[in-house]
Amino acid sequence: MLSTDPSLQNSGHRYLPKIDNLENLPSPNQELLPLSAKVNRSDCLEIGGCDLSKLVEQFGSPLYVLDEFTLRIACRQYRDSFATYYSGESQIIYASKAWSCLAVCRIIDSEGLGFDVVSGGELYTTLKAGVKGDLSGAEALRDRIYFHGNNKSADELHLAIESGCTIIVDNWLELDMLAAMAARASQHPVPIMLRLTPGIECHTHEYIRTGHLDSKFGFDPSQIDTVFTYVSQQPALNCVGLHAHIGSQIFERQPHQDLAEVLVEWMKKAQEYGLPVKKLNVGGGLGIRYTEEDDPPAIAQWVEAVASAVEAACQHYQLPLPQLIAEPGRSLIGSACVTAYTIGSRKEIPDIRTYIAVDGGMSDNPRPITYQSLYRALVANRMSAPLSETVTVAGKHCESGDLLIKDALLPKTEPGDILVMLSTGAYNYSMASNYNRIGRPAAVVVNQGEANVILKRETYQDSIRQDRLPERLVNFP
Ligand code: LLP
Repeated sequence: MLSTDPSLQNSGHRYLPKIDNLENLPSPNQELLPLSAKVNRSDCLEIGGCDLSKLVEQFGSPLYVLDEFTLRIACRQYRDSFATYYSGESQIIYASKAWSCLAVCRIIDSEGLGFDVVSGGELYTTLKAGVKGDLSGAEALRDRIYFHGNNKSADELHLAIESGCTIIVDNWLELDMLAAMAARASQHPVPIMLRLTPGIECHTHEYIRTGHLDSKFGFDPSQIDTVFTYVSQQPALNCVGLHAHIGSQIFERQPHQDLAEVLVEWMKKAQEYGLPVKKLNVGGGLGIRYTEEDDPPAIAQWVEAVASAVEAACQHYQLPLPQLIAEPGRSLIGSACVTAYTIGSRKEIPDIRTYIAVDGGMSDNPRPITYQSLYRALVANRMSAPLSETVTVAGKHCESGDLLIKDALLPKTEPGDILVMLSTGAYNYSMASNYNRIGRPAAVVVNQGEANVILKRETYQDSIRQDRLPERLVNFP
């Protein structure tokens, strides 16, 4: 809970979520810290009832700390909001590229969400996590897992067909391959959806914009008639829906409303070609708060905007409401996790800059160096210490650009202090690398005072696990 002592408002307390009513929780994507964050009597940050400095003592650092409560609340807010604002059927599928691992998939599956996967590896992880169709038969796997990708391999398509998920077809090569494979498959018709590029611009980083016409994803709108004609002539393919995604970390609602309208218009056209299109997938993209300046709409506000646009467009075209699918990643998991680092060396360059280095960096969070993403941090073991200096938080990789936060306002730190970076649940672990042969960190899920490892820390042995030393090199010369 937020401290009432005004002198503490500038310290680590300033990021605590303001929760005055458990019935009416904030939207996780609008918070900088997970919803369960508190400061305990030892002046340490606690998440899920676990003291961050104790977690680091027990599990080492860097450490991803995932708050199960926040993740579950985000799932529920999406589901409840669709139930409130959309009169037709709806489904939320988790864009597992944001963070794919067994435990995350299990939690999300248990909240009744489906999955968007973009590779054989993500599909495999989801299946191994136990994601199934509803055994009562009401919901088959095809309604639970959706397979994306702009260059799926024949092996991936085979796995997708055999597992029974719905394949979101991106391009002509894939369509041809699928038509042939589906005809030979043990079970057909194979359920597919078509990914279209809507030509909608939105304000986000160029690398994470996908809906504008100059994008590598999806069929260009100029090809729609030809694609619909072709698909309508493939008895082994069952085109159940249309999909589009306009980008990620988006704060405006209008682009998604525009997208909803375009998709409904295309649904009408698809039906004119005799395609049984009953699902519209509007993609993901709702942004989260990384810094105080970020002001994303709440999950409920976003859902209301999209749902009302689909309903209005269906009314306009006199179409029955489709099953409306959204596939958020970042706004489900981004704010549910923090990364704890141990502070090490310090370099003071008079009149220029002070660097403090942590024991991780661009290998566990490549977002700052890739997208110039901004983050906030706090010192977890001294939450009330006054903010007294501006420093640059550097990683430990052999690269000058490996800076996690430029000009962070922090208390004076010592080596051994625990620095916590906020909002690291999305696209951190999933984009982590072994650069400099630094092992990927461990991750724990925390809830009500319990912490469980969900990803083991990679060891030196792991770093050479895939290495092979050919015999002829061993004794060379
Ligand atoms: N659906 C599709 C087809 C997508 O391509 C994506 C994200 C999503 C859903 C989920 O979008 P979200 O709700 O998470 O915004 N690595 C970048 C983000 C790349 C997003 C890729 N596609 C980053 O770290 O910002």
